[in-house]
Amino acid sequence: MLFRQLFDHTSSTYTYLLASRKGGEALLIDPVLEHCGRYLKLLHELDLKLVKAADTHCHADHITGLGKLRDTTRCITVMGDMTEVDLVSMRLREGDTVDLENISLKVLYTPGHTDDSYCFAMQDRIFTGDTLLIRGTGRTDFQNGDPRAAYESLFKKLLKFPDETFVYPGHDYKGDTVSTIAEERLFNPRLQVSSADEYAEIMENLKLPNPKMMDVAVPANLTIGRDIKNDPEIIAATLDTKSAKAKYHSKNILFIDLREPKERTRDGSIPGALHIPYLELKNSLSKGGILNIMVTSEEKEILFFCAYGERSALALKEAQEFGLE
Ligand SMILES: [Fe+2]
Repeated sequence: MLFRQLFDHTSSTYTYLLASRKGGEALLIDPVLEHCGRYLKLLHELDLKLVKAADTHCHADHITGLGKLRDTTRCITVMGDMTEVDLVSMRLREGDTVDLENISLKVLYTPGHTDDSYCFAMQDRIFTGDTLLIRGTGRTDFQNGDPRAAYESLFKKLLKFPDETFVYPGHDYKGDTVSTIAEERLFNPRLQVSSADEYAEIMENLKLPNPKMMDVAVPANLTIGRDIKNDPEIIAATLDTKSAKAKYHSKNILFIDLREPKERTRDGSIPGALHIPYLELKNSLSKGGILNIMVTSEEKEILFFCAYGERSALALKEAQEFGLE
């Protein structure tokens, strides 16, 4: 596996790059806006295609790179479904997976630091966001934080992982890069408690100042930088549910479901829709691809569906670039 731990000095944030091979699909976890140029350069140098960018939660100390990366690479932006961030292409729940070529991360819902905090687990490691830090834990005093929920997430979910599991946190302020579940269970001072009440007492008496960027970062992150749905071209091409349903029965329409197989299993499939997951769309749109042939030779119209509207918007742009009007 290709793995990089990248650092933002201003907010002490760690960003993780994962891919299974050179030339393959890549995922970025918790990217920071200011470093998107650096990530894109590294992706290019390693010959990787960014297919997904995920945030563990809505950050208060830096502006996320999700919007910028989506606009530059048309990658899928991923967050948990409890988030209020409005523009996320794919929303995941506890037990779902973040999938890319030969890599699958299990999603854990771990509220406490915020009510939209998630962790992503692989065979040998967990990306813990701000839920579990090295010899620390995420504060619980804003963004609907809750020390008792944090206690449950830490003790009933994260500490249940095998001792040797690597812990890759969302931040470190002392320069530590990685820990393990066993080390944190033994030496993390916040975890030396025997009840949720005891944990809450520690957390409620921390009296930390608010993060410097909080008033800027949270509102910016709630809209991931730029609203793709404000694009006049996208607005003109968007159908409401009623008109989409009416069009759905027309013989001239190709109803394309852009969701991934697991989303269709989870939420239900649409009878008669053509399933082309967003990441496979490019092949179908290019010359000789199934969509390209059907649209050009049979003069059909395309209707994209993706559940949240983001992937459809990106698909529209992609189709136009392939000369499909
Ligand atoms: Fe945070």
